[in-house]
Amino acid sequence: MDLFEYQARDLFAKHGVPVLAGEVIETPEAAREVTTRLGGKAVVKAQVKVGGRGKAGGVKLASDPADAVAKADAILGMDIKGHTVHKVMLAQTADIAEEYYVSFLLDRTNRTFLAMASVEGGVEIEVVAEEKPEALAKIPVDANEGCTPEKAAEIVAAAKFPAEIAGQVADVLQQLWTVFIKEDALLVEVNPLIKSGDGKIIALDGKVSLDENADFRQPGHEALEDKAAANPLEAAAKAKNLNYVKLEGEVGIIGNGAGLVMSTLDVVAYAGEAHGGVKPANFLDIGGGASAEVMANGLEIILGDPDVKSVFVNVFGGITACDEVANGIVQALELLKSKGETVSKPLVVRLDGNNAELGRKILSDANHPLVQRVDTMDGAADKAAELAAAK
Ligand SMILES: Nc1ncnc2c1ncn2[C@@H]1O[C@H](COP(=O)(O)OP(=O)(O)OP(=O)(O)O)[C@@H](O)[C@H]1O
Ligand SMILES: [Mg+2]
Repeated sequence: MDLFEYQARDLFAKHGVPVLAGEVIETPEAAREVTTRLGGKAVVKAQVKVGGRGKAGGVKLASDPADAVAKADAILGMDIKGHTVHKVMLAQTADIAEEYYVSFLLDRTNRTFLAMASVEGGVEIEVVAEEKPEALAKIPVDANEGCTPEKAAEIVAAAKFPAEIAGQVADVLQQLWTVFIKEDALLVEVNPLIKSGDGKIIALDGKVSLDENADFRQPGHEALEDKAAANPLEAAAKAKNLNYVKLEGEVGIIGNGAGLVMSTLDVVAYAGEAHGGVKPANFLDIGGGASAEVMANGLEIILGDPDVKSVFVNVFGGITACDEVANGIVQALELLKSKGETVSKPLVVRLDGNNAELGRKILSDANHPLVQRVDTMDGAADKAAELAAAK
């Protein structure tokens, strides 16, 4: 989960990283009082989860409280690369002497953590990495040892920070490492980390991405979710503990096992080419042990998606036998009916693997008018695509 800058700033402050005072507002008029509180002038910063805000006109200096209201008015509602600005942060203005870059991230390729640092910050770091790779130091950080004082000194030396601030930068690196570990982050990035006119090191902009797999031990992180931005179907699926991702197409997909569902998406997209280009409408993995209730929850989400024209249930029986899945489908349709939901979209079901024969018989016996059985994956994908195209 990516955080807004102001949320990253809060986490930085919590773990001792030096930041400037700032407050978040959602209406232009609120800027007046906040700017006065911040000392009469402020930087007005769009809060969107996308880079390059400054270049897009989303970071502006306000010279007095009235100017801050005008700048906030201009920035609120702005569209930055497809993200609408609903909040702005007003921050104390910094007297910038130098702009640097530092970050910690999970380096999946090398199966380690990585520190990156450069004295050429403030600009897009991808550009530095591309055009002047020698200016971006990359130092692996051992997970068991962490960013020790020695490691921090190594990073500072590799990035060639000037001697007079080396100690301060090393301290900030260790504080950032604390954020990274204590908050279970996948990325903490500061760009720019600045040296102020009076020689202080301050984090002026922060980017943090949290590892959602650690949510169970991070009760505070739920409050950081941007619930307003979440897709309503995805939010409903999450509330029911389903692994669901909304996609753009018309064929609803339910399968057991992430690998099978992924390949189902491919097969449906391929089959859809012969039917006017219909595509999968979602990813939904109901996992092993797909009970009637889980199946009903999954079907409810998918059938509730107005984009869905047909549904493809693709199950390969393993630990969960196909007869259980077939019973699940039959019961799920009854469950939805008893809840007063009208199911009118056709379902194509393919069952294979453990107890497939029995499962197929259960579906045949149930003889539900909307359910069709097709016993091969390609055949079923083609049928589901055809039905979606016909709607
Ligand atoms: N509080 C501040 N005081 C003075 N100048 C600031 C302040 N905050 C930002 N700036 C200036 O604005 C520039 C851009 O700000 P910032 O890094 O926050 O946004 P950005 O880089 O455009 O956004 P992103 O990092 O999302 O791409 C900074 O490099 C800095 O020069
Ligand atoms: Mg920045």
